[in-house]
Amino acid sequence: MEEKKTYYITTPIYYPSDKLHIGHAYCTVAADAIARYKRMTGYDVYFLTGSDEHGQKIERKAKEKGVTPQQYVDEIVASFKSLWKLMHISNDGFIRTTDDYHVKAVQKIFKKLYDQGDIYKSSYEGLYCTPCESFWLERQLVDGCCPDCGRPVEKVKEESYFFRLSKYADRLIDHIKTHPEFIQPVSRANEMLQNFLLPGLEDLCVSRTSFKWGIPVTFDEKHVVYVWLDALSNYITKLGFYSEDDSLYKKYWPADLHLVGKEIVRFHTIIWPIMLMALGEPLPKQVFGHGWLVLDGGKMSKSKGNVVDPVKLCERYGVDAIRYFLLREVPFGSDGVFSNEALIYRINSDLANDLGNLLSRTVSMTEKYFGGILPAPTASLGEEDDALLAQARALPAKVEECMNKLLLPEALEAIFSLVGACNKYIDVTMPWVLAKDEGKKARLGTVLYNLAECLRFAGVMLQPYLPETAPRLFAQLGIEAGPLTEALSLRFGDLPAGTRLEKGPALFPRIDVKAELAALEAETLAAQAAQEAKAPAAPAAPETPVAPEAPAYIEFPEFEKVQLRVCRVVDCQPVKKSDKLLNFTLDDGSGTPRTILSGIRKWYADPAALIGKNVIAVINLKPRKMCGIESQGMILSAITGEGEGETLSLLTTLDAAFPGGSEVG
Ligand code: MSP
Repeated sequence: MEEKKTYYITTPIYYPSDKLHIGHAYCTVAADAIARYKRMTGYDVYFLTGSDEHGQKIERKAKEKGVTPQQYVDEIVASFKSLWKLMHISNDGFIRTTDDYHVKAVQKIFKKLYDQGDIYKSSYEGLYCTPCESFWLERQLVDGCCPDCGRPVEKVKEESYFFRLSKYADRLIDHIKTHPEFIQPVSRANEMLQNFLLPGLEDLCVSRTSFKWGIPVTFDEKHVVYVWLDALSNYITKLGFYSEDDSLYKKYWPADLHLVGKEIVRFHTIIWPIMLMALGEPLPKQVFGHGWLVLDGGKMSKSKGNVVDPVKLCERYGVDAIRYFLLREVPFGSDGVFSNEALIYRINSDLANDLGNLLSRTVSMTEKYFGGILPAPTASLGEEDDALLAQARALPAKVEECMNKLLLPEALEAIFSLVGACNKYIDVTMPWVLAKDEGKKARLGTVLYNLAECLRFAGVMLQPYLPETAPRLFAQLGIEAGPLTEALSLRFGDLPAGTRLEKGPALFPRIDVKAELAALEAETLAAQAAQEAKAPAAPAAPETPVAPEAPAYIEFPEFEKVQLRVCRVVDCQPVKKSDKLLNFTLDDGSGTPRTILSGIRKWYADPAALIGKNVIAVINLKPRKMCGIESQGMILSAITGEGEGETLSLLTTLDAAFPGGSEVG
């Protein structure tokens, strides 16, 4: 028998410093869909995920809680594992960086690199971002903070070991240039070359002495291995690299795909390939940097509570609904927005209406007109049948094409386009009219057969994405797992006539949008109230009046940092999907139109009336995306009153004809 081709796919290993939110689940669900798809199409797959358990951040958090770092991570890692089980993640391996075999292999890797002179001892004085476990140079900081997470960095000074990244930089640049598939999407490859590789790589500090929670360097025990060196090695140590049994390593390495979030592409496409080069091992075939799932108006964080808790979301809407949303809504490679409205919309329109209704109509009509027994397609086919059958037959190849390019939403779109075509087919063929005419029984039977067979096709192709729903769909179609549910042998017409179809519960019950949103709002308010009740009581008001505090003066250089400019309003439109925002297009004198979103819609019912007016804008405020639009600054306005009595007026120049583009100062 021919040996199956192997496919090795990994997710990043997650920090057990917090509970995982729905953004973390995004990467794992995407990797799972790919792994399942590859298995379904004949590959021998190894799918790895895990937890990244060492580092200063974990040590500090454990201390805050009064437990040992090991106790701290054990509890959180257990919650990771149960989340992945709940979400039907089909990983073949789960690595913990505290696992013994990993610790030993990392120690051997470090020693080998030291023995061959690629790691050397020196001392490090510089900046460190503990939440990201990243070293930074002064020039790389943004406003003095970590360029990745925006949090303050710490000055550290330690005796350290260094890894000679610089020695391998040219080889890596060459590899990236000659292997365009290595870093995907291409934009991320350019970013790595322009921002990190071409300006010159500095050697990397790869050990720490200021904390203990890490893998000790065997030949110098006061040092622990830098967490990223430790963590990246997981992709090979889990396969037995540098262990007694490295058969999995021999079988699966190099990885076909490291799926990672965009902010950690840097580690995976610079440090990791250089480690492998230095070890003399092959490089992974591809690192794909996916975008982030963000909340409308901001980054996801655990402070957003239940809204982003994947367990709560799965309990409320069902695992497959959440999987579908994640895979369908986020353009692979770009950021996507999570909101309850968008989630409910997807569930209702795609899952309940399109897919759920199609199945329920098909099964009900077969029950009603043929006693639940699937009729044979005996009538000759017309144009509408041919078109539908052609679309079904083309589906596996279409999905394959999308999956080869990792276009996950497009793969789902292709499947749902067949579902949509079936619903139209029902509207056009009108089985209920055919049923009234005994002479059209054969035609009616053919229509229902075609629908059931298309549903089987959709179900088979949906298995990697909706692993819970596909079997429920097959059950109603009377199909057991086996040859009829296999993708590789999918052939239109194989579903035997005579199969018994049986109606089951709705695949996805429709959600009452208004009631659901009201319920969510009420729950959020209740949670906030509970939170406030828990908060320590505010100190009692002092009895004697206190003198007003002196204003918090700022120095002129601080004020000077804010760049204010008079801008002319060129266009002003309400932002779709927002009842608060106006989208201003401004002439700021630079020759390039500037977009600023401002939450002042309720004060300007006729936004067009603002066109031609001068406004004052802060133009060096960090750009921020809202409702998918990048806002490049802030428009100043004056507010007076409170609550109902609050009014707002945009600031402008006294002389209306004053030219836009002038500096304010
Ligand atoms: N431990 C490192 C990875 C080491 S891999 C050798 C790490 N862990 S993490 O827990 O902070 O992040 C894990 C993954 O989750 C990253 O790929 C990150 O991009 C991803 N996500 C975190 N928040 C996310 C969203 N809001 N949306 C999508 N992915 C997100 O980094």
